[in-house]
Amino acid sequence: MDKIVVLDFGSQYSHLICRRIREFSVYAELVPYDISLEELKKHNPKGIIFSGGPSSVYNSDAPTPAEGIFDTSLPLLGICYGHQLIVNKYGGKVKRANKEYGSSLLTIDNDKDLLSGVGESVRAWMSHGDEAEEIPPGFQVIGHTESAKAAAIASEEKSIYGIQFHPEVVHTEQGTEILKNFVLKVCGASQDWTMEGFIETEVEKLSKIQGNVLCGVSGGIDSTVAALLIHRAIGDRLKCVFVDNGLLRLDEAKEIEEMFKNNFKVNFSAVDAGEVFLGKLKGIEDPEKKRKIVGEEFVSVFTEFAEKNGPFKWLAQGTLYPDVIESGVSKGPASVIKSHHNVGGLPDWLDLEVLEPLKELYKDEVREIAKILEVPEKLFMRHPFPGPGLSVRIIGEITPKKLEICKLASKIVEEELMEANLYQNVWQAYAAVGDDKAVGVVGDERKYGNIVMIRVVDSIDAMTADWTRLPHGLLEKMSNRITNEIEDVTWVTYTISSKPPATIEPQ
Ligand code: XMP
Repeated sequence: MDKIVVLDFGSQYSHLICRRIREFSVYAELVPYDISLEELKKHNPKGIIFSGGPSSVYNSDAPTPAEGIFDTSLPLLGICYGHQLIVNKYGGKVKRANKEYGSSLLTIDNDKDLLSGVGESVRAWMSHGDEAEEIPPGFQVIGHTESAKAAAIASEEKSIYGIQFHPEVVHTEQGTEILKNFVLKVCGASQDWTMEGFIETEVEKLSKIQGNVLCGVSGGIDSTVAALLIHRAIGDRLKCVFVDNGLLRLDEAKEIEEMFKNNFKVNFSAVDAGEVFLGKLKGIEDPEKKRKIVGEEFVSVFTEFAEKNGPFKWLAQGTLYPDVIESGVSKGPASVIKSHHNVGGLPDWLDLEVLEPLKELYKDEVREIAKILEVPEKLFMRHPFPGPGLSVRIIGEITPKKLEICKLASKIVEEELMEANLYQNVWQAYAAVGDDKAVGVVGDERKYGNIVMIRVVDSIDAMTADWTRLPHGLLEKMSNRITNEIEDVTWVTYTISSKPPATIEPQ
């Protein structure tokens, strides 16, 4: 498989370079900027990309590539800071300029190679403080903007290119075309990165492992896909365990069990620990205490299962590529099998090695695999669900009655959003319940019942969120159904707090 290696100099967009390249079916991997020549050669790349980064090339502590990286004769593309590294290395001059952020018009001066087929000019996304003042001997300007006269440079003879703008962000028109020109035309890489191919090679690799594998599944897409790949490779030597903590969405536990047992014929055990969890949570009102109890109880149930059903050599996890890389300090090549370490609070004596078959993948690639493996669409279209489950959506003590209300009302919110074709447009949607009560009238009778809060939010990454402006008719339908179908509820409210200052979950 052909590969492009991206050296990460710490730009917030470094990841996106890999994603864009993988989107046109070439494998790209992010590695630390200081990777040694020897390590780099092990990747056998078809080309190298230097990412952007926050530094200035003339700072004494500016990150630079290791000895010999510039001399590989492989095609090289520098983006932003990477561009300045190239200018500096080959005898040009970088100067501090007025900071330029946002979109600029890039005029194409030479439409061969890197900028072929992109037109006479494009909007290009800039985010830099320095710029090339003098280009190195042997290079020519192939594109400029009003403020950056050397916004794109090339030494076609050496196959080295530098661009001041970011082709990986969507705001750069034809950005993918520019990356394609580099990867496909200049580097000559083949488009052979497909998820079918990944499944085949990964299953072959996994089939070589010895010993039994334990995989905790949550019903989420990552652990499900990880389990299914391992199952394809080693069959019943994989044991999946699903801990039902009693805090899941309505019917969720049953659906997950059916999927693993009936659809996939996986060696699957569901541990019904609902009563144990709810027992430990009895009388607890503090949100942090509740979280802690749920976390500790999970480890305890999981450990007990491992002890009784072992011995296991491996613990499988659905870790994804972005989880293993932090910008600027990326840990380099992600291998399938990580060396021995203690995981997520599990005791050392279990002595498990970690198996992470999705460690090289982005979420959208995992979704693609899920489709190929015929995982029911419902599972990977569902909103993210917090680890501590409904305990973060029940304010105050968790009682069976409040839990029931939370489950039923949340189901109604989800159903109505789906019916209105809005479910996929929102980040999360549920109903929360606390101890507040309000008077209602049912028939001719006064009724003192619970208040339910509907929460529906828009977000991109859960760091910030805004309440969704749902149509009033839809809110009315949700409210009517909740009060009609759930006996103890008299009032329904809609939360209109954004994050910040609120959070997405109430606890
Ligand atoms: P907050 O409520 O902090 O939540 O705005 C942000 C996002 O994180 C989810 N969430 C959790 N997920 N364990 C999880 O796995 C947790 O303890 C947890 N708490 C909140 C929440 O659903 C939202 O998407």
